[in-house]
Amino acid sequence: MSNTPAVTTPLAFDVARIRADFPILGLTVAGKPLVYLDNAASSQMPQPVIDRLVRYQTTEHANIHRAVHYLSETATTAYEAARARLQRFINAREAREVIFTSGTTEGINLVMHGWGRKNINAGDEIILTVLEHHSNIVPWQMLALEKGATIRVVPINDAGELLLDQYEALFNERTRLVSVGHVSNALGSINPVRQMIALAHARGVPVLVDGAQAVPHLAVDVRDLDCDFYAFSGHKMCGPTGIGILYGRAALLESMQPFKGGGDMIHTVTFEKTTYAPIPNKFEAGTPPIAAAIGLGAAVDYLCNIGMPAIAAHEHELLRYATEHLNALPGVRLIGTAQDKAAVLSFAVQGIHPHDVGTLLNQEGVAVRTGHHCAQPLMARLGVVATSRASFAFYNTLADVDALVAGIRSVQKVFA
Ligand code: ALA
Repeated sequence: MSNTPAVTTPLAFDVARIRADFPILGLTVAGKPLVYLDNAASSQMPQPVIDRLVRYQTTEHANIHRAVHYLSETATTAYEAARARLQRFINAREAREVIFTSGTTEGINLVMHGWGRKNINAGDEIILTVLEHHSNIVPWQMLALEKGATIRVVPINDAGELLLDQYEALFNERTRLVSVGHVSNALGSINPVRQMIALAHARGVPVLVDGAQAVPHLAVDVRDLDCDFYAFSGHKMCGPTGIGILYGRAALLESMQPFKGGGDMIHTVTFEKTTYAPIPNKFEAGTPPIAAAIGLGAAVDYLCNIGMPAIAAHEHELLRYATEHLNALPGVRLIGTAQDKAAVLSFAVQGIHPHDVGTLLNQEGVAVRTGHHCAQPLMARLGVVATSRASFAFYNTLADVDALVAGIRSVQKVFA
C-alpha cells in the first residue's frame, strides 16, 4: 500500500505535486498511510487555502460593510473579491447573483422560504427525483405540508439513471418547481440537468439545481445550464465548512422575500416598517462567515490553477480504474452504474454489513463512508439499508484505488 501515485499512471497530471499541497494527506491512520476516499462528505484543504485563512485572521479581520476604518475596508474588499471569484467560477452574469450561504442546505432552504412560500400554494406540485439527498427533500416536504402541495418524484432505472420520459410525464398545469441534484452523492450519477431544465422551461417551470457534488468535479456554467437557482457548498471543494453559494437569477432573487432578518440586509428600519437592501445583501443578514468566504475564494483560485477540465479528466480515470478493479472482486457488487458518472463508487460486500466494511477499512487506513448517505428514499428504491461508498477527489491516485481493493480483500478474509 502506498500513498504515492502508481508509476503506470497514464495521467498527464502531476498528482504527487498536488498531494504535497495537502498536509492532511500525509497522516497515518492505524499505522497505515491515510487513503482518504470520503470526499463526497467533505474534501480536504490545500496549504494555499489554509495560508489565506491565516493571513486573513492575522492581518485583515474586522466586520464588513459597516465601518470606514482600514481593517473593515480590507475585510470588505477581500469578501467582495471572493464573491467575484465565485461569480467567474460558475459564469454568473453578475456578482449580485451570488449569495453567500452556510452551505447547500441553507441555499435550498433560502429558496424554499424566499421563493417557495410565495409561489407554491395548495394543490401545487414540486418535482424532485428519487436520487436526492435529504437536503433537497426535507425543505420541500416542509413546504408541501405547510401549503398542501404535493411532491412528485422522478424514478430511476437499476443503473441509477433518471427516467426522462417519466420526468416529462410528471408535468402538469400545477407544476411550480423542479429541484434536482446535478450529481447523486450516493451513486455518482450525473443527471442530464441541462436537458431537464430545458424541458421544465418549455413548460414555464423554474429549476433549482443542487450542485453540491458537481461543482468540485465538473466545470459548471450556470448560464449554459440556464438554471434558475444553483446551490453548492465550500467544504466539498477544498474550502472551509460553514460557507456555500446560492446562485439565483437576479430578477428572481429581487422578487423574493428575505429568508433571515437582521443587520446588513436592510435599507431603512423604523418600528413601523423596514425596507430591504438590494441583492445580494438582502439575503446575507448578520455578520457572515467572512473568513470562510475568503477561504472559499482561495479554494476557487486553487481549483482554477489546476483547471476543472484536468480535474475532471483525472477523476474520470480514477473512476474507470476503480470500477474495473471493484468489478473484478468476487463478492463485491457496485451499486450505481450510470453511463455518465462522477468518481463515486457505492458498493456492497456479500455477507458483510457496510458498517463492518467501513470499520475494517479504517484499520487499513482507508476512509470511506458507510450508511444511507442522507438518501434514505434512494436506499429504499435500491432495496438496501446502507452501502459502503468510496468517493474520489483530484488528489487521489490509482494507488489509493489499489489500497481500497486490498482493504476490501482484507475485510473479506476476516469474515471468511
Ligand atoms: N451529503 C454528504 C455526503 O454525501 C454529507 O456524505
